[in-house]
Amino acid sequence: MEILETIRNRRSVRSFDGRDLTPRDQARLLELFDQVPNPYGQAIRFQLLDGREHGLSSPVIVGTDFWLAGKLLRAPHAEEAFGYSFEALLLRAEAELGAGAVWIAGTLNRSAFETAMELKPEEVMPCVSPVGYPAARMSLRETVIRKGVKAGERLPFASLFFEGDFQNALNRERAKDLEPILEAVRLAPSAVNKQPWRAVVMGNAVHFFEQHSKGYVDKSGWDLQKVDLGIALCHFALAAEAFEKKALFSLDNPGIPCPDGVEYIASYSV
Ligand SMILES: Cc1cc2nc3c(=O)[nH]c(=O)nc-3n(C[C@H](O)[C@H](O)[C@H](O)COP(=O)(O)O)c2cc1C
Repeated sequence: MEILETIRNRRSVRSFDGRDLTPRDQARLLELFDQVPNPYGQAIRFQLLDGREHGLSSPVIVGTDFWLAGKLLRAPHAEEAFGYSFEALLLRAEAELGAGAVWIAGTLNRSAFETAMELKPEEVMPCVSPVGYPAARMSLRETVIRKGVKAGERLPFASLFFEGDFQNALNRERAKDLEPILEAVRLAPSAVNKQPWRAVVMGNAVHFFEQHSKGYVDKSGWDLQKVDLGIALCHFALAAEAFEKKALFSLDNPGIPCPDGVEYIASYSV
């Protein structure tokens, strides 16, 4: 249940208290790298980087020099695989070490990070996160960013979740024992807080879809919102596990008719 508490209480942290991560916490993070698999079976190489050594920075981060980053081969579903594993890592870091973090895809000196990660042409380093101990007060810049994306808000339950098809919104009462698990999905972080995940419940299956927003797919076909979908799948699986439900992953598209801009991603049966 500890991870569920973390999911409920987490928020992005962009202001840190200036302390270095203790050697013990650094060692624990390295151990966690091997404990965050993803259901796509894709291998991700994580690293803990000292920003002073590699000249790493982000205009939105103050008070820590430590960074987590990960890279993997460019392949179908690499976005979801990375989203899943990196979120599992950040949640464990918060739950076990009290460490703060924030997903960073855009506001970073990317080339310095990619050099530090020794990124090869066939690899991708989707996102990074600062890691450290949260400051008692947020920086002014962080307060402004949070306001800009309404970071404390989420779409209503019945706008995200459906029953049988996309015509029938699912309310909390009808979701029954899936309610707290879907709530963990609802609360997940996403790029610019767009929450592009949708899910259709059919019997004991929960089918996940992406509601595309404009501007998130780059020239190479990389889709940042699929990283968000990976994060949503991670929250679902961790919450299901907390309620001692076995969640079986599959990529069998149920063929549900989709509204415009909605794409099938993956399913869990519970
Ligand atoms: C894939 C992804 C990329 C993100 N990129 C950035 C970023 O470049 N800069 C930033 O300040 N926040 C970034 N965020 C953080 C989101 O703005 C934040 O998660 C969202 O507003 C919800 O707020 P919360 O995490 O406090 O719940 C990113 C989040 C995700 C999931």
